[in-house]
Amino acid sequence: MKKLAIIGCGGIGSYHLGHFLQFKDLVELAGWCDLIPERAEAFKEKAGCGEAYTDYKTMLDEVKPDMVFVCVPPYCHGEIEFALIERGIHFFVEKPLALDLDLARKIRDAAEAKGLITASGFQCRYADQIVQPAKKFCEENSVHLVECSRIGGVPEVDWWRKKSLSGGQAAEQTIHQFDIIRYLIGDPVEVFTYNARGIITDAEWPGYDTDDLSVTACKFANGALCVISTGCYATSGNSFDSKITFSTRDKRMEHKILGTTVIYGEEAAPAGENDGFVVKGDGALKAGGDAITYRHHGDSGIQCDRTFIEAVITGDPSKIRSSYRDAFKSVSFTLACNKSMETGLPVKVELE
Ligand SMILES: NC(=O)c1ccc[n+]([C@@H]2O[C@H](COP(=O)([O-])OP(=O)(O)OC[C@H]3O[C@@H](n4cnc5c(N)ncnc54)[C@H](O)[C@@H]3O)[C@@H](O)[C@H]2O)c1
Repeated sequence: MKKLAIIGCGGIGSYHLGHFLQFKDLVELAGWCDLIPERAEAFKEKAGCGEAYTDYKTMLDEVKPDMVFVCVPPYCHGEIEFALIERGIHFFVEKPLALDLDLARKIRDAAEAKGLITASGFQCRYADQIVQPAKKFCEENSVHLVECSRIGGVPEVDWWRKKSLSGGQAAEQTIHQFDIIRYLIGDPVEVFTYNARGIITDAEWPGYDTDDLSVTACKFANGALCVISTGCYATSGNSFDSKITFSTRDKRMEHKILGTTVIYGEEAAPAGENDGFVVKGDGALKAGGDAITYRHHGDSGIQCDRTFIEAVITGDPSKIRSSYRDAFKSVSFTLACNKSMETGLPVKVELE
C-alpha cells in the first residue's frame, strides 16, 4: 500500500485528516508533521496509526511517503516542496501555493521535470452537482460579463492579518472564486485593482495590515469582462449576498461556490400579455421563465483528495482538476491584483 504523510496539522490539515480517515483501505496513513508537536501528536492519536514529527525532513527520510499533503500557511512554501521534489515524492499543496510567482514557477517546473503528480486545494471544482451545470452553461452560451463578490469577516488565524504572510484576501480566500471563474470561462488577460483600508481598526484585530476591500476589473481571453469584489469588513451576513453572476445576452447563471447554481432564462417565457421583452425607462428588460436551481450536497473535498491519492496509486493524473501547473495560473491571477494595488496600474496576468 502507498504511504501518505501530511506537513501542517492546523485548520485545513484537520479537514484533510477527516477525509484520510475514510481512505484507510486505499492508502497507509504514515506520517504527521507540525512545528507544534501537540498538533502532530493529536493527528496521530485521531488516526490511530503513523508517526508524529516536528521536522519534515526527518519524517520524509524515516517514513519515506509516496505522497505528501502540504498544508502550511501561504508564507511557508519553498523549502518543503524542494525537499519533496528532491526525494521524488508526489504532492498536494494547499492554495495559494506560494506568494512569490517566481518561486511557484520554479517549484512547478522542478516537479514536472521529475515527473511528479501534483494537485492543489481547489476542492470547489469537484462540487459536481453545481459545477457541471455551470460548466455546461458557460460552454453552451457566450458569457460577456462576470460579476463576483465575496464579502466576509476576518479569519481567526494570526498570520491572516499580515498581508506579507497571507497574501491578502484576494490571494488567500477569494482565490477560490478567481479559480472557479477561470475553470468556467477560461484564462484572464489583464487586471486593474483598487483597494480600500481603514474600515477595520487595529483595536478590532491587533496587527492587522491588509486590505479591507478590493475591487478588480479584468479582461478575459474570450473577450468577457469581469468585476471581482472581495472584502473582509463585514460583521454580519446582512452585509452582502456573495455570489458570482455569469451574464449572457438573454440568460444568467448565479453560482455560489459549494452552495448553488441558479440559471435564469433557460425556459421560454410563458405566453401572456407581455409577450417578449419590454424595455423599461431605465433600460432594464423584463425577464421571463422560471429559474432552475442546482444544490450542492456532501463534501467535494473528499473527492478532491481521493482523486489525487488515486492518481498516485494508479500513476494516472488525468482526473485531477487542478494540478500545480493549473493552480499556478489562479495564483498568478490574484498576485496580479496585488501588484495592481501596489502600482496603481493595470497588470498582465502571467500564465506561463
Ligand atoms: N482549500 C481550502 O478551502 C482552504 C481552507 C482553509 C485554509 N486553506 C489553506 O491552507 C493553508 C493553511 O491554512 P490553515 O488555516 O490550516 O493554517 P493554520 O495556521 O491553522 O495551520 C498551519 C499549520 O502549519 C504548521 N507549519 C507551518 N510551517 C511548518 C513547517 N515548516 N513544518 C511543519 N508544520 C508547519 C503550523 O504550525 C500550523 O499548525 C493556507 O494556505 C490556507 O490558505 C485552504
